[in-house]
Amino acid sequence: MVALLLCSALVFLLAALAHAESVIVPGAAWTDTYGNVIQAHGGGILKVGNTYYWHGEDKTTNSAEFRAVSCYSSTDLVNWERNADALTPQSGTMISTSNIVERPKVLYNSNNKEYVMWFHSDSSNYGAAMVGVAIASSPCGPYSYKGSWQPLGAQSRDMGVFQDDDGTAYLLYASDNNQNFKISRMDSNYYNVTTQVNVLNGATLEAPGIVKRNGAYYLFASHTSGWAPNPNKWFRASSLSGNWTSQEDIAPENTRTYYSQNNFDLPLGSNAIYMGDRWRPSLLGSSRYIWLPLSWSSGSPQLVWVDVWSVNLAAGTYSAASGTTYEAESGTLGGNATILSDSSYSGGKAVGYLGNGGTVTFDNVQGNGKGQWVSLYYGNGDSSYRNVTVSVNGGAAALVDQPDTGGGHVILSVPVKLNLKSGSNTITLGSGQSNYAGDLDKIIVYNVG
Ligand SMILES: *[C@@H]1O[C@H](CO)[C@@H](O)[C@H](O)[C@H]1NC(C)=O
Ligand SMILES: *[C@@H]1O[C@H](CO)[C@@H](O)[C@H](O)[C@H]1NC(C)=O
Ligand SMILES: *[C@@H]1O[C@H](CO)[C@@H](O)[C@H](O)[C@H]1NC(C)=O
Ligand SMILES: *[C@@H]1O[C@H](CO)[C@@H](O)[C@H](O)[C@H]1NC(C)=O
Repeated sequence: MVALLLCSALVFLLAALAHAESVIVPGAAWTDTYGNVIQAHGGGILKVGNTYYWHGEDKTTNSAEFRAVSCYSSTDLVNWERNADALTPQSGTMISTSNIVERPKVLYNSNNKEYVMWFHSDSSNYGAAMVGVAIASSPCGPYSYKGSWQPLGAQSRDMGVFQDDDGTAYLLYASDNNQNFKISRMDSNYYNVTTQVNVLNGATLEAPGIVKRNGAYYLFASHTSGWAPNPNKWFRASSLSGNWTSQEDIAPENTRTYYSQNNFDLPLGSNAIYMGDRWRPSLLGSSRYIWLPLSWSSGSPQLVWVDVWSVNLAAGTYSAASGTTYEAESGTLGGNATILSDSSYSGGKAVGYLGNGGTVTFDNVQGNGKGQWVSLYYGNGDSSYRNVTVSVNGGAAALVDQPDTGGGHVILSVPVKLNLKSGSNTITLGSGQSNYAGDLDKIIVYNVG
């Protein structure tokens, strides 16, 4: 009996371990511990003890209109369990299923021992331009809705919050038809704002987050281009009332922040984690998360593109997984696939005209037999997504989305998890598809899955 119990405990443990993820893979379809795609867009992270809570927009229906503010929890930022929804629709209010509830952010108010959620509250045509507030006695709620209004009588659309070391909290928001970006101080309950402390006139900023580092405030924000990505910026000031330094890019400008929009910035040791959304307006629930290290190693905050990476929360550090690169031009071309030359490609070359009969095959790709992440580096100069088929050892093909890269010579990467056998494998891209795939620069096969 004891042996049987031990045995089933072991089976359970092994099953749990088999499911556990160890790495962050920007742009992949992240799943929760139940295997469902994580629906927590435009969200925020709250740490309570050793647990991280991720509140975000559930876009399961692909509609922009309100369905729920979800609540996920994790102790490692990688394995997320979905809890009961934090905030759900209430008919006849500004949080009904025909309203907008975006960018939920939760603060803990230690005076009241209360969790306070702020969000962008709007009508379906974004004409109301308000903030909403809801409160709860536990991180996932359920939250009770207090109301929606225009803070200090002015519009508020994309917003974030910031809690300073002394417990004072601030609302960060795009106001006045998204022209002016404002920072206003909250009251001691975090129920309302009382004082505007700063305005960046004409800044046209959205999607803000603030990180405090060595006594300085760093503001991160995008510009305003709807759901489409743009080069996100950083600013520094010694006080939240300014003056802010002039804007600088957080990533190479032509990558449009690696096709993402800032959402939340979480301190990690002497660095931070940039948490961005890769919005996909035609299929909102398939919008992906782009989380990347935000490193100050150059003296100013810059995103570090890493296909596959991990965090060490205790040490406050991150590390990139290592992988093996296979250049597309070294593969075997089939059909009308052809070599393209441009200095933006690694090795100066890529393979174009994949799809519609054009293929590239990589032989002798070394696998570990455990499931591995593979990143496809490509250019897609269209104004919409392409996709590419990937098959291993002649097996069934996976279809991988390739967002437009903002020009054919801008290279981005998308991940796909492949089951390579231990030893040598053959990987073919572009077969069996009647549309053109992105131009393939290279693939990198990581040792982790
Ligand atoms: C928020 O504060 C403003 C005054 O600054 C006040 O007019 C407004 O009624 C308050 N809103 C709520 C919901 O308390
Ligand atoms: C901020 O900038 C304004 C305009 O350039 C200037 O008048 C003001 O003195 C500056 N404030 C500080 C604290 O540097
Ligand atoms: C391949 O290219 C040739 C020459 O441009 C063209 O006639 C043919 O239709 C192409 N084949 C496919 C499958 O696109
Ligand atoms: C694949 O991409 C093409 C555009 O290149 C698109 O028309 C097609 O719908 C996509 N297929 C899927 C299944 O998303």
